[in-house]
Amino acid sequence: MNPTILVTGGTGFIGSHTTVLLQEAGFQVLILDNLSNSDAQVTQAIATITGQSPQFIAGDIRDEALLTRIFAENNIQAVVHFAGLKAVGESVAEPLLYYDNNIHGTNTLLRAMKKAAVKTLLFSSSATVYGEPQALPLTERHPLSSTNPYGHSKLVIEQMLGYVFQSDPQWRICNLRYFNPVGAHPSGLIGESPRGIPNNLMPYIMQVAAGQRPKLQVFGDDYPTPDGTGVRDYIHVMDLAAGHLAALQRLLNPTAQTSVQTPGELLNVNLGTGRGYSVLEMIAAAEKATGRPIPYDICPRRPGDVASCWASTDYATHVLNWRAERGLEQMCADAWRYTQKQQG
Ligand code: NAD
Ligand code: UD1
Repeated sequence: MNPTILVTGGTGFIGSHTTVLLQEAGFQVLILDNLSNSDAQVTQAIATITGQSPQFIAGDIRDEALLTRIFAENNIQAVVHFAGLKAVGESVAEPLLYYDNNIHGTNTLLRAMKKAAVKTLLFSSSATVYGEPQALPLTERHPLSSTNPYGHSKLVIEQMLGYVFQSDPQWRICNLRYFNPVGAHPSGLIGESPRGIPNNLMPYIMQVAAGQRPKLQVFGDDYPTPDGTGVRDYIHVMDLAAGHLAALQRLLNPTAQTSVQTPGELLNVNLGTGRGYSVLEMIAAAEKATGRPIPYDICPRRPGDVASCWASTDYATHVLNWRAERGLEQMCADAWRYTQKQQG
């Protein structure tokens, strides 16, 4: 049996781009996704890009019998765990959904991994685990907190993984704390297609540029930032995917960093660019990339938003030998290409 990487949530936004890079690096990929927020046709788009279709199983990470079968029938080397729900507002309205899907789902996955003695895991965490930034840039040593059930679920999972590692130091785990992933594969064949009204800035801007929505609401222009609008560390999804590849290669090739006494490791690594852009800067960049106006209204602040958030990238560079390479222009151009292809 060929060594295979199990990618949960692999038909989703970040999972699909990471699958492309994993396949291009020579890994066999098996995607497990319940399609609650993605489409099975993404596997065909991945095959068009890479020339190779990933294996795909439509199923849920909370289905322990299914997971047990997957581990028994395949030679899984490592798991890249994207599957989860991610809408902050929805998590406030339906917290139990998030505890079930994200926390119970991850617990079920970890049980199946333990049973199968597969102990190498990349986990999709988020900069949301830093809560309200006390100092910028955010380093991995910044205190952790959460302000909503989505963020709480990420924090609890990081803590669970800490205790799993403590109980058995053979585990090799990397929590990747994403900042604001945007953009799309340069082919325009895969990208971010949120269902319903987008919660996040970039997909909303793209829908306005495409004429699908009349105007953007800018949530607050009275923050202590240069132009008063919120500042975030937007990172191209292909750079993010490359960060996963670097992390996986490190976890699978431990010899350089570890000894016989400490065979495993638990890492927390930011994936960001280290620089922030305001909402108004994002609008200007998108207008340039799309050649379309992005009308907007200044509206009240969105509850729970922080003024500014950007990453320290030093540790990622040191530990993964990785850094983001793509700039804002490319993020907007690639997102726009994908949006236009979706429109047909
Ligand atoms: P996404 O919704 O596009 O992808 C998640 C995928 O997981 C979807 O395809 C969905 O169908 C699947 N899924 C959800 N619950 C499942 C379950 N119980 N069993 C099997 N499949 C399930 O989201 P994304 O943007 O690609 O995010 C991937 C991960 O990264 C998530 O865990 C998210 O919380 C995390 N994250 C995302 C962002 C972001 O801005 N996109 C930021 C920080 C962290
Ligand atoms: C949000 C989540 C975060 C999650 C991330 C990825 C909140 C409070 N935080 O991050 O936990 O990890 O998405 O899913 O929801 N903005 C507008 N108008 C819009 C949309 C956004 O002005 O229609 C502004 C926001 O106020 C913010 C910036 O754009 O200043 C980025 O917003 P968004 O894309 O939602 O990302 P975050 O809030 O950083």
